[in-house]
Amino acid sequence: MSLRLGDIAPNFQAKTSMGDIDFYEYIGDSWAVLFSHPADYTPVCTTELGRTATLQDEFAKRNVKVIALSVDPLDSHEGWIKDINETQNVEVNFPLIADENKEVAIAYDMIHPNASEKTTVRSLFIIGPDKKIKLIISYPASTGRNFTEILRVIDSLQLTAYHSVATPADWKDGEDVVVLPAIKTEDIPAKFPKGFTEVKPYLRMTPQPNK
Ligand code: BEZ
Repeated sequence: MSLRLGDIAPNFQAKTSMGDIDFYEYIGDSWAVLFSHPADYTPVCTTELGRTATLQDEFAKRNVKVIALSVDPLDSHEGWIKDINETQNVEVNFPLIADENKEVAIAYDMIHPNASEKTTVRSLFIIGPDKKIKLIISYPASTGRNFTEILRVIDSLQLTAYHSVATPADWKDGEDVVVLPAIKTEDIPAKFPKGFTEVKPYLRMTPQPNK
């Protein structure tokens, strides 16, 4: 059965480019991004792993551990990482799972047989410190992911996990947010001392509370 938002992310043990790992031990109390690649030595994946390496400080700042997966073996990963470092001018400093037996890919439903029987699509899971799945996105092999959007979603997930707000369309960190409908308008001033605007009784905007 496929995984859904709010489900517990399955734990697994795997060989990676940074040694054997237990997934839960690797992520500890952090947030995590687990994302799959159709195959090693492919052009779009090469740019995606390079971009992720470039953004390592951004992920670390948000307390996010990143881990990639491809169903190719470890020696293939090692050679490919050298190419990524050389061509993308980076140092890949996060693990790449060698999921040769497709155990993790199957547990996370990363193989979509009508797209490809043998390789994973570009699945991406964001997992919270409670090990629950907060976001799932699937891209086809031919479309590289937008990592600025991944960081934006992490900002939204982390904000809305701790404050009674939601983030509107195209929201970016620092912009006004929506007060949750469950909060009564008369209770807003006490909860949101920066003020609020009532656009409609169901649409109340307030400055981002943690800024
Ligand atoms: C790529 O990562 O470049 C790729 C993989 C499979 C199909 C098309 C592109």
